[in-house]
Amino acid sequence: MTDHRHISIQHLNKYYVGQNPHEKMHALKDIHLNIKKGSICGIIGRSGAGKSSLLRTLNGLESISSGEVYVLEHALSELNHAQLIQLRQRIGMIFQHFNLLSTKTVWENIALPLKVAGYSADQIKQQVEKLMTLVGLDNKADH
Ligand SMILES: Nc1ncnc2c1ncn2[C@@H]1O[C@H](COP(=O)(O)OP(=O)(O)OP(=O)(O)O)[C@@H](O)[C@H]1O
Ligand SMILES: [Mg+2]
Repeated sequence: MTDHRHISIQHLNKYYVGQNPHEKMHALKDIHLNIKKGSICGIIGRSGAGKSSLLRTLNGLESISSGEVYVLEHALSELNHAQLIQLRQRIGMIFQHFNLLSTKTVWENIALPLKVAGYSADQIKQQVEKLMTLVGLDNKADH
């Protein structure tokens, strides 16, 4: 794989198996996609077309049935669990249903993954404040 492609997907197929194992649903069909470093790419399709399924394959949240997904020079199928977790820390993702913790504040929601990743209290404070300012939420820390 060449280094100008940050994301490369080749012959990707994904089947969902329902309660009846004979009923397989072919959600992603032989997808080829190369996304260059620094480019912005939108994925458009009707509801149920497979946009979320495709996105979830990019950080290994969704297993794939065949094909290969390369992200930041890594073939996802060759990574072990620890390596996949490391790579995920470099892939930003906003879920369709946000997945925020409703009992925690804005500040705490941003801080939690940094804490899990082993940042010090000082580093967390610095990073959370920087990110809230970046997106204009610095006056909403305690919401
Ligand atoms: N966990 C699952 N098990 C079985 N089928 C699934 C699962 N997740 C998605 N599907 C099916 O796979 C297809 C693609 O779903 P997906 O959520 O990826 O579509 P989408 O393009 O993101 O849709 P939307 O625009 O509504 O968000 C749909 O037919 C959906 O019902
Ligand atoms: Mg979706």
